[in-house]
Amino acid sequence: MALRLLWHPNQWIEGPEKEQFKQLLGSKFSGEATLFASGRCALLAILRSLRLSPGEEVIVQGYTCVVVPNAIAAAGMKPVFVDIERDTLNLDIEETANAITPKTRAIICQHTFGIPADTKGLRALCDRHSLILIEDCAHVIPDSGGPSEIGRHGDLLFFSFGRDKAISGVSGGAVVCKKADLRTPLRTLEKQATPLGRVNIMQYLFYPLLYALARPLYGIGIGKILLALAGKIHLLPKILTQSEKKGIMPPTLCGMPNACAALALAQLQSLRDINDHRRMLTSYYATHPLLRAYAVRSSLSLPSLPLQKFPLFLPQAEKIRKKLKQRNIHLHDGWTGCVICPANADTSAAGYCDDDDPSAEMVGEQILSLPTHPGMTLHDAQRLVDALHTSL
Ligand SMILES: Cc1ncc(COP(=O)(O)O)c(C=O)c1O
Repeated sequence: MALRLLWHPNQWIEGPEKEQFKQLLGSKFSGEATLFASGRCALLAILRSLRLSPGEEVIVQGYTCVVVPNAIAAAGMKPVFVDIERDTLNLDIEETANAITPKTRAIICQHTFGIPADTKGLRALCDRHSLILIEDCAHVIPDSGGPSEIGRHGDLLFFSFGRDKAISGVSGGAVVCKKADLRTPLRTLEKQATPLGRVNIMQYLFYPLLYALARPLYGIGIGKILLALAGKIHLLPKILTQSEKKGIMPPTLCGMPNACAALALAQLQSLRDINDHRRMLTSYYATHPLLRAYAVRSSLSLPSLPLQKFPLFLPQAEKIRKKLKQRNIHLHDGWTGCVICPANADTSAAGYCDDDDPSAEMVGEQILSLPTHPGMTLHDAQRLVDALHTSL
């Protein structure tokens, strides 16, 4: 599809797929969908639509991506980090309740790697304090097979269609709004969003093609050279800019290109198959006798979850990743060695103070996650677990 779209530049910015994608998302989650260039832009749009006053607080979990606190700061608000539960990698409800002040206006709950946060508990907390509940669904899009608690209790949901997310448009983001009074401001923000340039869109369309070529050639070194060359001539889109790593998000809201919406729409239409594949790999990892002892407790629940990746806690996680890398198995995913991820993001610029969230810090040190993406077969997973076994 990316190859076909490359030959049709008249469909890159506008086209029917954007509207179809919005309709399908909105109907799946019983709200109105608006599209933006990325998950971070979608979050910024939500925060702007709330018209909060500068300095008001938004609660967010430790162990998150730096773009989340960046969007809060770009909207003029203060991120307040709350510790997570080791068993779910999601907000700890008690700690969340303790962090609420008269300045708190919203709570963002992240379903880390697809593990459902306690949205019922958070909904009750938000109702008690008149707060807005925002669900960050960047890592998971539930289907008819569940998990049903995701996307049900939030006032607003946002999604990312980045290249490593639940479904991919290479880039893109969406808001699903369930609050009638916020639909018009969000529609206006979507209409006013700046369209992405054609060079950006071309990079996005080249990305799946480049990886399709480079991945099978990675083991013999050619894939690595190909990707390095593509990076040098700026053909590879960057996930994070240098200034984003330093805590700064550009204030311009950008729109989702039709080309990315077309890629994401095709995946949303196959969501059940994509999620079933993730369930199958999650179930394999969760029932493997070697892994059970190290797995994050909630990821072992049955029926299995369509996890974006399968997290383990291993005290020697970094050492093991290095050993596996020597065997051409690459498990560095940007969510290791950090509370505000990736590890080279400026934690203090994001507003986090060392030692504030001890569980999140421990998770960052000990986590090692196994992939469940659509390109990963059961055979790959079996080989990975065998390699992991010999590296322990
Ligand atoms: C938990 C979480 N929320 C939001 C985002 C933002 O998504 P995007 O990269 O599309 O801006 C990310 C991105 O990695 C994420 O991991």
